Amino acid sequence: MINNIKENIKKLIDDKYEVKVVVEEPKDIKMGDLAIPVFPIVKKLHRPLPEIANEVALLIKDNISEVKELKVVGGFVNLILSKEEMSKNIILEVLNNGSNYASKDKNHEVVCLDYSSPNIAKSFSIGHLRSTIIGNSLKLIYQKLGYDTVSINYLGDWGTQFGKMIVAYLKWGDKEKIKNDPINEMTSLYVKFHEEAKKDPSLEDEARQAFRKCELGDPKYLELWRYIREESLKESAQIYDLLGVTFDSYNGEAFYNDKMDPIIRELEAKKLVELDDNALIVRFADLPPALIKRSDGGSLYMTRDLAALFYRKKEYNFSKILYVVGNEQKLHFEQIKRIVSMLGYDFADEIYHIGFGLYLTNGKKMSTRSGGVVKLYDVLMKAISLAKEEIELKNKNLANKDEIAKKVGLASVLYNDLKNQRELDIEFDLNSCVKFEGNTGPYLLYSGVRIASILKDKEIDLNNLDLEVLNKDIYYEIVRLLNGFKVVLEKSATDFAPSHIAKYLYTLATTFNKFYALEKINCEDIKIRNTNLALIKAIRIILNEGLRLLGIDYVNEM
Ligand code: ARG
Repeated sequence: MINNIKENIKKLIDDKYEVKVVVEEPKDIKMGDLAIPVFPIVKKLHRPLPEIANEVALLIKDNISEVKELKVVGGFVNLILSKEEMSKNIILEVLNNGSNYASKDKNHEVVCLDYSSPNIAKSFSIGHLRSTIIGNSLKLIYQKLGYDTVSINYLGDWGTQFGKMIVAYLKWGDKEKIKNDPINEMTSLYVKFHEEAKKDPSLEDEARQAFRKCELGDPKYLELWRYIREESLKESAQIYDLLGVTFDSYNGEAFYNDKMDPIIRELEAKKLVELDDNALIVRFADLPPALIKRSDGGSLYMTRDLAALFYRKKEYNFSKILYVVGNEQKLHFEQIKRIVSMLGYDFADEIYHIGFGLYLTNGKKMSTRSGGVVKLYDVLMKAISLAKEEIELKNKNLANKDEIAKKVGLASVLYNDLKNQRELDIEFDLNSCVKFEGNTGPYLLYSGVRIASILKDKEIDLNNLDLEVLNKDIYYEIVRLLNGFKVVLEKSATDFAPSHIAKYLYTLATTFNKFYALEKINCEDIKIRNTNLALIKAIRIILNEGLRLLGIDYVNEM
């Protein structure tokens, strides 16, 4: 509603003066609801400021019906809008649209999202969890804004680590054991390889050769590769099932094994590569060189990524491609962008590296390699069991505790991640993120549950509302928040920041709880009660929808 009014005012001014102004929403409510800076008009027309300001004020007063009061203050025209009218309209807009509130029509633009992308034959790491939940949330946000999305799980299913796996399997592997417990067996084989290679470095060479055989298409090695890939994908699948995450494509690095030649040839033809110790490299003025081909002819992560990028551009014709990958790969993506523009293509600006920080425990990086192996699936399960303990304490008689504990546990982990600005490292402490109080996922779910229980079995007659009460500050604070959801959504897409939504939801929940403390929601006065119930119903709609965009399921009880 406010946005509509803003647009109307902008149009009025543009029509009259051919000047585009920004209509602001002052942070301080006392400054009015909207403020229109008149300087740009003064500048264009070279007429005195007071004269222009009064003229603009009159123009708005005559044309915008929602304006209740209007003041000229210095270079601004400040407006006070009729809260009652506006508030009612916003609440009704949310209730009428339900979860579609703030959704946009399809815009026929494609966004590719490359996320999760675990390395097969290694355990699914905390870093891959971050990529999975940030990527999934961005996908949902872009879909809501009308984009077509292509979600790609670019599996790390190719490369020397596969050689290591194969060598370890051939030397120490036990087929029976692997069949029974593939993930753990393969992880220990992988760990064993690293231990043994410390004693006998020639194993590294053996691994490189084994991988080279895969690259050259040796059937026996490829058969092994396929087996290992399939078995270890099962671990990731467990996690995706739990989180409800899906992908449109699982084309990983191996898929590009036979698609790299054209890009290498193009780099050569455009004289962008040089030989360095028999290896092919691309040099940049101000970045370290990128290795394109090994001296033994083997391909690299970079080569495969380039092949994948061009394949995707052709296949999906994206207007943006997002790589949700840890900060440590910043250079890699800078190099990719640079190579694209050096080749003379114009889509380098459509490539975004969506970086993120590490998970820390007591200030140190959480590790999945040897030693303190943290299994992600176990972490999620632990969160679920902690949530169950919390539920046992708070609501012992709850039916279907397990199902709810699962949702609460996952919400804890997801929200604890997504509430942070993604580039930052996160101190990870399961116990605190499962708490029902504070800035946690369970707190948000609990606020929604509280609303659900107030609304239970209540009729709301929307034709019998009290508008007067909407003038109270707390009501208006909430209405402004409801209305602000659209802006937050846009901003979270342009900044690639689900954290904007998380922060917004936390404010929405705390504001609801403030309302709950201040007002008797289920009051005697039928009109005020209708208004109160309509208002909190609108809050719950947005709360649930916001949570959905973070990949979190709401609950009705907990
Ligand atoms: N598998 C890689 C890793 O775990 C991440 C891949 C990211 N995506 C990409 N197109 N490079 O480090």
